[in-house]
Amino acid sequence: MQLFPSPPLALLALSATVARAQELLSFRSRPDLQPLKWIVAKEPTENYHDGYYMTCPWSTDVPQPAPAIYTSKGDLVWTDPEVGMCFDLDVQNLNGTDVLTFWNGTVNPFSRYGIGQAYIMDSTYAVTHVLATTFNDTCDLHEFTIPKATNSTALLPVYWPVQADLSDYGGTEDGWVLYNFFQEIDIATGEIVFEWNSSEHVPFSESYTTAANSTTAYYAWDYFRINSIDKDTSGNYLVSSGHTQALYYIDGTDGEIIWKLGGKNSSFTFGLNATFYGQQDARFVDGPTVVSMHVGEATTGQTTERGLSLLLNTTTMEATMLVEFLPLTPYTSTSQGSLRYDPDGNVVFGGGTNPWISEYLPNGTMIYSAALGGEGLVDSLIENYRSLKTTTWIGYPQTAPDIAFNGSTVWASWNGATEVAEWEILTGAHPSILRPVAVVPKDGFETEITIDSAKYARARAYDAWGAVLGQSHVLDANSTIVSTDGQYRKRSEIDGRVVQNSL
Ligand SMILES: *[C@@H]1O[C@H](CO)[C@@H](O)[C@H](O)[C@H]1NC(C)=O
Ligand SMILES: *[C@@H]1O[C@H](CO)[C@@H](O)[C@H](O)[C@H]1NC(C)=O
Ligand SMILES: *[C@@H]1O[C@H](CO)[C@@H](O)[C@H](O)[C@H]1NC(C)=O
Ligand SMILES: *[C@@H]1O[C@H](CO)[C@@H](O)[C@H](O)[C@H]1NC(C)=O
Ligand SMILES: *[C@@H]1O[C@H](CO)[C@@H](O)[C@H](O)[C@H]1NC(C)=O
Ligand SMILES: *[C@@H]1O[C@H](CO)[C@@H](O)[C@H](O)[C@H]1NC(C)=O
Ligand SMILES: *[C@@H]1O[C@H](CO)[C@@H](O)[C@H](O)[C@H]1NC(C)=O
Ligand SMILES: *[C@@H]1O[C@H](CO)[C@@H](O)[C@H](O)[C@H]1NC(C)=O
Ligand SMILES: *[C@@H]1O[C@H](CO)[C@@H](O)[C@H](O)[C@H]1NC(C)=O
Ligand SMILES: *[C@@H]1O[C@H](CO)[C@@H](O)[C@H](O)[C@H]1NC(C)=O
Ligand SMILES: *[C@@H]1O[C@H](CO)[C@@H](O)[C@H](O)[C@H]1NC(C)=O
Ligand SMILES: *[C@@H]1O[C@H](CO)[C@@H](O)[C@H](O)[C@H]1NC(C)=O
Repeated sequence: MQLFPSPPLALLALSATVARAQELLSFRSRPDLQPLKWIVAKEPTENYHDGYYMTCPWSTDVPQPAPAIYTSKGDLVWTDPEVGMCFDLDVQNLNGTDVLTFWNGTVNPFSRYGIGQAYIMDSTYAVTHVLATTFNDTCDLHEFTIPKATNSTALLPVYWPVQADLSDYGGTEDGWVLYNFFQEIDIATGEIVFEWNSSEHVPFSESYTTAANSTTAYYAWDYFRINSIDKDTSGNYLVSSGHTQALYYIDGTDGEIIWKLGGKNSSFTFGLNATFYGQQDARFVDGPTVVSMHVGEATTGQTTERGLSLLLNTTTMEATMLVEFLPLTPYTSTSQGSLRYDPDGNVVFGGGTNPWISEYLPNGTMIYSAALGGEGLVDSLIENYRSLKTTTWIGYPQTAPDIAFNGSTVWASWNGATEVAEWEILTGAHPSILRPVAVVPKDGFETEITIDSAKYARARAYDAWGAVLGQSHVLDANSTIVSTDGQYRKRSEIDGRVVQNSL
């Protein structure tokens, strides 16, 4: 073995280090924000519909873990470092209204499950609901779905350690089992609509993990591991379990298992390339005959993580591959990842432990791809549990717009505001006597506007119909706030289009 690398190897090592460094966005008007850069690797092609991508990057290479929404061009739309590390950021329908949803809490470092709560924000980014299961008022990070079958309940899992004698299962007498449950909760009342206890229905023998030696694995025998839950219009549930490598179709009245797809005792046989290992984010596609999922680990015939959709024939009990969705660069993913058929028919893939987010036509043709933080940040350098897309989100933050000002340039931004079309700059020699000097189209998260030099400045945001949405405080040429009269207009005042531009 060569202990000292030759010069070419040393150079390679150096360039590898450079290639791995994460790239960040920075803003003059919001120096506190440090989101990852969104790097477009494949520009949108035919049948791409514009929208926003929702992420929750975390890992040691992410300096500021937080929810982050981006446009397809790579512009930041919203982030909130005060929320901090999150999972499962999504826009969902609650009784007909779009809401922003995410999980927040702490991650158990030994077994990577969550102890936290599920949050709902309205279009002003105000928290309206904090939800949890009845298990110590906590829930796990792997799922927070408001099923389309109700639009008014939440599906939440919980991982629950219970002391147990594991000597019959290859463990110690003083061991722990990590039990898995999910609850469906009425969002308005908090009432439990349904509860499912995996160990009442799935024998320990279906797990691929072995009972842990209590000193080496922090006690727990983590044998089921719910990583997705959905409910269909017939009232049944589709649950994915990481450690039994199977999907379970569960009767919504008595919790009995209707069928199992995959694992040690599959109800289905598998056609060519239809087997999976390390599946995540299992969903029915338009009824229970097509199931989609993210498959992280390579199985027979494959060398990469991929999206997979399977046709289920419940007469012959055969599962056949319908289509697969392959990333730009082949990598396996040992945890996390997502795959969603969106309402527009396209399919969005999230790479889990790899930084890729890609979009496809239903036949598997890639129409867009981007990397979060850097194309080389694979193998958990960037972790992002799910990457989802919205084409409907509208945000009206209840904060004033932000600016920076140096005497001849204004930098204007408004974290979370989706409806700004133009920025107007007002300047003057006195903070209370300012006149409009420029109107420019909004250009990404932060718009840079050059003006004739002035002592004081503020920015005013207009929507595409010419309504004022808000204005910044007045700043001097050192970016110091001199007049704290920045404002935002309420959504109710704008949506009615009773436009009185008198802020
Ligand atoms: C998210 O959880 C962390 C850790 O429990 C906490 O410090 C933070 O305040 C939480 N954020 C919100 C929005 O509650
Ligand atoms: C639930 O809460 C009780 C009371 O605070 C605590 O003793 C127990 O350890 C908690 N259980 C789990 C699994 O966190
Ligand atoms: C829930 O909302 C979706 C639209 O997002 C709609 O298609 C569905 O019918 C709604 N479900 C119910 C139960 O109203
Ligand atoms: C959703 O609508 C139902 C039926 O109108 C209502 O009972 C419930 O309170 C609503 N839930 C929320 C969270 O607004
Ligand atoms: C879950 O099921 C197991 C196995 O039947 C049982 O031992 C345990 O008490 C159940 N837990 C709860 C909270 O119902
Ligand atoms: C558990 O693992 C530790 C460390 O490897 C070892 O010292 C111990 O003997 C093991 N205990 C059992 C019961 O296997
Ligand atoms: C396999 O599942 C079938 C039902 O699908 C059940 O009848 C059978 O007992 C199970 N076998 C084992 C070994 O768990
Ligand atoms: C199955 O996978 C192999 C290896 O990736 C590939 O060569 C073959 O074309 C695939 N077959 C189908 C039907 O997709
Ligand atoms: C299931 O397979 C049978 C036998 O090949 C076939 O007749 C039937 O149409 C298939 N059903 C579906 C939904 O594909
Ligand atoms: C996928 O669909 C698109 C649009 O219909 C078509 O242009 C393309 O040729 C198809 N690709 C394959 C591999 O069938
Ligand atoms: C303000 O910043 C711009 C852009 O960096 C620069 O060109 C300009 O010289 C600066 N103006 C002053 C007065 O410092
Ligand atoms: C900016 O700050 C510097 C240093 O404090 C000061 O000398 C200068 O006068 C200030 N300029 C303005 C325009 O307030």
